[in-house]
Amino acid sequence: MADYDFDVLVIGSGPGGYVAAIRAAQLGLKTACVESRETLGGTCLNVGCIPSKALLHASELYDEAANGKLAKLGIKVQVELDLEQMHAQRRDAVQGLTGGIAFLFKKNKVEWIKGRAAFTAADTVQVGDRSVRAKNIVIATGSSVTPLPGVEVDQKVVVDSTGALELAKVPGTMVVIGGGVIGLELGSVWKRLGAKVTVVEYLDQILPGFDGEVRKEANKIFRKQGIEFKLGTKVTGVSVAGDTATLTLEPAAGGAAETIEADAVLVSIGRRPNTDGLALDKAGLTVNQRGQVEIDHDFRTSVAGIWAIGDVVPGPMLAHKAEDEGIAVAENIAGLTGIVNHDVIPSVVYTAPEIAGVGLTEEVARERGEIKVGKFPMLANSRAKTNHEPDGFVKIIADAKTDRVLGVWIIASVGGTMIAQAAQAMEFGATSEDIAYTCHAHPTHSEAIKEAAMAVTGKPIHM
Ligand code: FAD
Ligand code: NAI
Repeated sequence: MADYDFDVLVIGSGPGGYVAAIRAAQLGLKTACVESRETLGGTCLNVGCIPSKALLHASELYDEAANGKLAKLGIKVQVELDLEQMHAQRRDAVQGLTGGIAFLFKKNKVEWIKGRAAFTAADTVQVGDRSVRAKNIVIATGSSVTPLPGVEVDQKVVVDSTGALELAKVPGTMVVIGGGVIGLELGSVWKRLGAKVTVVEYLDQILPGFDGEVRKEANKIFRKQGIEFKLGTKVTGVSVAGDTATLTLEPAAGGAAETIEADAVLVSIGRRPNTDGLALDKAGLTVNQRGQVEIDHDFRTSVAGIWAIGDVVPGPMLAHKAEDEGIAVAENIAGLTGIVNHDVIPSVVYTAPEIAGVGLTEEVARERGEIKVGKFPMLANSRAKTNHEPDGFVKIIADAKTDRVLGVWIIASVGGTMIAQAAQAMEFGATSEDIAYTCHAHPTHSEAIKEAAMAVTGKPIHM
């Protein structure tokens, strides 16, 4: 190894970085991972996927108990919210899982270098007073909240996603700026716990990037749940006096401004790649217009020996995408063939019901060629109906000539679990007929996928 300290140095220990480091070590490479946070696991484990799901799960159960849903099943309960305990179990989940990564690092002999890394040369980074030289460096620095110009996040009245996980009391009113994934998930949490929630979205529909019909139906369901939406509206200013925020809203298309007040404001207008302070220029690297590090098919940057994965590179900002890229980059560094099929990355919004999709939207598929579409409502699925979960549908988009499945979209209570089957089928190049002739256990929500596949050629049984 000549005078290198490591074969592989990974910068960032999120789902991209920690997975890359573990796989590199498993492949016999001497590996270290630099992390500037106190704990491992990145955005996902510390302030993202895991704590948000902890609150989504708990608040969903609270909602079922407090708002008559359990009573409908013959279960009478006296309900009281213990928000402190709800937060405690969230912190517990985070602590357990971040500690788990530290254990896996030890087990796989990955050295955890604590501190912030900055390049001093293409093969060297400085961390505190330590200079570390590595044959391969993987940039996995992730992303952070995009600020809204002129709006100051104080993490008390005006919060970002991290602050919205920590609110010490349920706000009476909450305005969510941005009807994307974070706004809908965390907006749902506080709505269920009692806040009156209004989502202000710049575009004319929520959930950009999702299938058009799914976006519309999801919006309808959230409205039915009591969340208010102001679509086609932009926030042009937020001022805070005491415990109250005043927001100025303007129609995106122009027109008269209005103001609304809120006890809490969540700014969730997207995330941007983390490259500040990395001194990429010292390594001979630049970023693109969106601030991302560009890579080729094998996750190589333009500089030999430097690789990049996860939220800091182009593509959806999703933990499982980062993880798969982590495995692939380590395998490529080890001289194996690491591949990620970016056409088959599922996406899930963990609201109730869950909203999930994989592959092409109907709009994009139609632009590319002739398609057939099969749809099946959850209302006609025996298990969903029995469980009083009538909202949503499964939609399968297939190529009109070859019948190959191009996209699957689901709104269902367990849509996030159901989508795995669709992703696997697409990874294997399945036709809608393959899915229709696969035996699905009864009674399961997944039977709706089989029926939607049958509907592609016009023959569902239960509709
Ligand atoms: P990150 O997880 O962002 O990790 C990067 C790490 O690098 C950070 O810990 C950072 O401290 C460290 N770092 C940065 N610069 C340096 C440096 N110079 N030196 C040392 N360390 C550095 N995705 C899903 O798929 N499912 C979900 O349910 C989901 N829920 C989410 C909920 C919320 C509220 C948020 C904010 C995000 C959510 N995401 C979810 C997105 C997911 O968290 C990200 O896609 C994922 O964490 C990206 O992984 P990563 O490894 O690229 O980067
Ligand atoms: P997002 O990109 O999903 O949504 C942001 C929304 O804000 C968009 O609809 C956009 O049109 C709107 N917007 C932008 N500026 C606005 C303004 N001034 N006024 C009103 N609306 C405005 O971003 P979000 O929700 O912040 O999430 C960031 C990332 O985190 C996403 O890319 C997502 O992939 C990831 N994430 C994934 C989760 C999951 O997989 N379940 C959960 C949470 C986050």
